[in-house]
Amino acid sequence: MKNSIAICPGSFDPITYGHLDIIHRAANMFDKVIVVVAHNKNKVTSFTPLERVNMIKKCIPELNNVEVDTFDGLLADYAKQKGAKAIIKGLRAMSDFEYEFQMALTNKKLNPDVETLFLTTSAQNMYLSSSMVKQIASMGGDISSFVPEVIKEDILERIN
Ligand code: PNS
Repeated sequence: MKNSIAICPGSFDPITYGHLDIIHRAANMFDKVIVVVAHNKNKVTSFTPLERVNMIKKCIPELNNVEVDTFDGLLADYAKQKGAKAIIKGLRAMSDFEYEFQMALTNKKLNPDVETLFLTTSAQNMYLSSSMVKQIASMGGDISSFVPEVIKEDILERIN
């Protein structure tokens, strides 16, 4: 799917190897990928949107076709504003499916020009989530297998 823009939305609180896997694969499929950090007022987050953007940027300096941005509003509107053809989401397990399916259908209704594409998570990331990373960090566990070294200290400083 060349000559197209895709967006990878999420909370990224914080970004993990699971998200990074999806971002790398999207960057291989599209000319330009915009990773968008959502301002979700209904979700209690550990990092501000700007902190999350900065952590993502630190993890992907080599990806020249990927931009990182934040948005506050409807994803369907953001996609329209950016001329995005696709919303890329990672699917870990069946438990993700119902919620993701609902969001995909809603976004299609709000913006019929954008398709939601699901990428199956790589096997090693099936169980991985930002909340799991924060829980392990808060209990003194080693998070090296779940997040890149460049953001490890940012996470440990905030969580502890
Ligand atoms: O990483 P998350 O928390 O699963 O990401 C959820 C996200 C940010 C993709 C979702 O909450 C979202 O799209 N929020 C923007 C608001 C919106 O467009 N809502 C209507 C679509 S269901």
